Amino acid sequence: MSNAAIQPAPAVALPAGVSATAAKPIVLTGAQPSGKLHLGNYLGAVVNWDKMQGANECFYFIADQHAITVPKVPAELRKNIYSCLAQYLACGLDPQRSHIFAQSHVVGHTELAWVLGCSCPLGWLERMTQFKDKSRKQESVGAGLLYYPILMAADILLYNAHFVPVGEDQKQHLEITRDIAEKFNRDYSPTFNVPEPFIGETGARIMSLQNPETKMSKSDPNQNGVVFLIDPPDVVRKKIQSAVTDSGGEVRAAADKPGITNLLSIFSAVTGQSVADLENEFAGKGYGDFKRAVADAVIARLEPVRLRYEEFSKDTAYLDSVLKSGAEAAQRVAYKTLSKVYRKVGFVERPR
Ligand code: TRP
Repeated sequence: MSNAAIQPAPAVALPAGVSATAAKPIVLTGAQPSGKLHLGNYLGAVVNWDKMQGANECFYFIADQHAITVPKVPAELRKNIYSCLAQYLACGLDPQRSHIFAQSHVVGHTELAWVLGCSCPLGWLERMTQFKDKSRKQESVGAGLLYYPILMAADILLYNAHFVPVGEDQKQHLEITRDIAEKFNRDYSPTFNVPEPFIGETGARIMSLQNPETKMSKSDPNQNGVVFLIDPPDVVRKKIQSAVTDSGGEVRAAADKPGITNLLSIFSAVTGQSVADLENEFAGKGYGDFKRAVADAVIARLEPVRLRYEEFSKDTAYLDSVLKSGAEAAQRVAYKTLSKVYRKVGFVERPR
């Protein structure tokens, strides 16, 4: 694929305190195994994770422990873990260049979370927007939902990450991670790197095709507004052809044309062409021609991903081997951090 949007990027700038001679910057992110990824997840997040590989030491994990903070059907969760992994691999996440693993496979995430939680003021947790939103929606709220940000802080600090690619909705959790790291460093002695959020440069914000005022979301009540990575081509085409447009027939990005603007940003993100170029190319053409071209471009980009997904998802033994080698590499780092932390808080060395 010769596409400007997926060329490898240089290493991100080194944060203060990281020497240029040290190993590569550490990038870490996690994602809950939520089933099918959509175009918004791909263009807004996974494409950036892909680009960061190689120049950085990347830890990419499936946050299965976070997943159970709200009720889950076990068989579905298990299926979704494999399916998410297969989708990430299909998108280009590469076990040769990154540590790809399941959170629950590495001893240390919950252990570090316990230690960090013991000195995290309760008020910090009760203030979290996501906790307030999610607990309002549920009849009974597990303590894990309150503890969620601490586990996330542990995920990040366990590997001393420098950069954490996250979406808007997780920025508050990154701020509390920084507060928790700073508090530990103050209460004991400098231990953790204080991580920075990494908001991707394209940051492509993909909106629902049916309601372009809201973000594309897998739980959209109107599923025609959501293009999934593994939708077959005819389904992708149908969804794009029936995308909401606006009155007036011009293919132009504008505040009062959210539907066409969204299709233009999708088109631009999948091809690497600028929105201005696309506007020129479609000057004087109708919405019909335009949508057909958007559908072609999206299908051309997604079809190889879908085909790779089909291959990977058939090969559970391979998926298990990816998780195994990822967890082994992560575990080495995790044990080091954990034993350092245990020593600092005053635990007696674990008998070997
Ligand atoms: N909470 C994140 C989400 O739902 C997933 C996550 C868990 C994560 N641990 C993390 C993201 C650590 C970044 C870093 O999207």
